Amino acid sequence: MYTALVAVALLGACWARIDDGQLEDTELRMPGIQPNSDDLYLCTAIKVDSQEPHYIVGFTPHGSMKTAHHMLLYGCLLPGSQKKVWNCGEMQADKKNSFESAPVCSDGPQIMYAWARDAPELNLPDGVGFKVGGETSVQYMVVQVHYMHPLEAPDFSGLTLHSTPQPQPRLAGVMLMVTGGKIGKHTTEDFETACYIDENIKMHPFAYRTHTHKHGKVVSGYRIRDGEWTLIGKKDPQLPQMFYNVQNDLIIEKGDTVAARCHMKNDEDRDVYIGATGADEMCNFYMMYWVDGDDLLQDSTCFSPGPPYYHWKESAGLDNVPEDINELGN
Ligand code: CU
Ligand code: CU
Repeated sequence: MYTALVAVALLGACWARIDDGQLEDTELRMPGIQPNSDDLYLCTAIKVDSQEPHYIVGFTPHGSMKTAHHMLLYGCLLPGSQKKVWNCGEMQADKKNSFESAPVCSDGPQIMYAWARDAPELNLPDGVGFKVGGETSVQYMVVQVHYMHPLEAPDFSGLTLHSTPQPQPRLAGVMLMVTGGKIGKHTTEDFETACYIDENIKMHPFAYRTHTHKHGKVVSGYRIRDGEWTLIGKKDPQLPQMFYNVQNDLIIEKGDTVAARCHMKNDEDRDVYIGATGADEMCNFYMMYWVDGDDLLQDSTCFSPGPPYYHWKESAGLDNVPEDINELGN
C-alpha cells in the first residue's frame, strides 16, 4: 500500500560554500520523490560539513500546500538512517512501503524550524543563531516532509539554510515540554507538565510551536514566577503547527518554573493514549529562545507522565492557574 518512487536517487547534496559575502546557502531538499500513497512521512539528511562551527540564522522553505502538508527541520548527532531518503513517520502504523523505516535522528534530535501551509521564511532575531557543526551535537540536518497524497510528478520540497561561520553573540535553543498520559472516552482532559529551572541561565523566548493530534483544543505555555503566571504562547493546535512569535516578551531564569498544558477533548468511544501513531495523541509545546553567550539549557526537555498520574495542582502544588487558560483569545 505504501510505495513510492525515488526518481532521482542522489543529488550529491553537500554543505554549500556559496558565499555571497555574508551568508552561505545550503539546500536540503527531497531528491525528486513521487509518493503514490496517502500520509507518507519522509526524511532526507545532510552532513554539516564544517570543522568550524556554523551559525544558522534563517530558513527559506521550498514547498507548496499542494504537495507537502508540513516540513520539520531537525539537528541530529546522527541521522536515523544512512539512506538518502527514509520513512520517518511517527504517525505511521503501516510499514508496507519501499522505504526503510527509522526515526528522524538516531541521536540527539533538536527541532529548529517548522513549515506548514503558507508559513514564510524565518529569520532569527539579529545576532541570534543555531550553532551547528564543529564540536556541537548537531552534525546532521534532517528535514521531514509529510506528503498527504500521491503526486503526479517528482517532488523537491525542502529548505534553504542560511548560515555563517561568523560567531553570533546569541545562541538559539529549543526547550520541549511534553507529557505522557491518557484521556478517557467522552471526556475532556488537561495534559500538564511543569519544571523548575535550576540552571544558571537567562532565556529569552522568541517563538513557540504546539503539537497535538486531532483531540487537541488549546495548547499553552507559561512562566511562573512568585506565583504569577505569564503567558509565553497559546494556540489552537489544529491551526498550522509552525513556530509563532511569543505573546509576551519575557525572560526565564533560575528560580522560575515553566509550565505547559494541552487541553483535549475525546468524543470517541475509546480511551486515547499518548503514543507514536496517528491514532494516539501527543502533547508538545516547543519554546525557541536565545541566550547571551554560549550556554544553552542543559536539560532541555520537561516531561511529565500526564493524566491520570500527574496534574499541576496535586503533583506540583501549582495554583493560581489563569482562569482563561483553556480559552483562545485574540
Ligand atoms: Cu503534516
Ligand atoms: Cu505527533
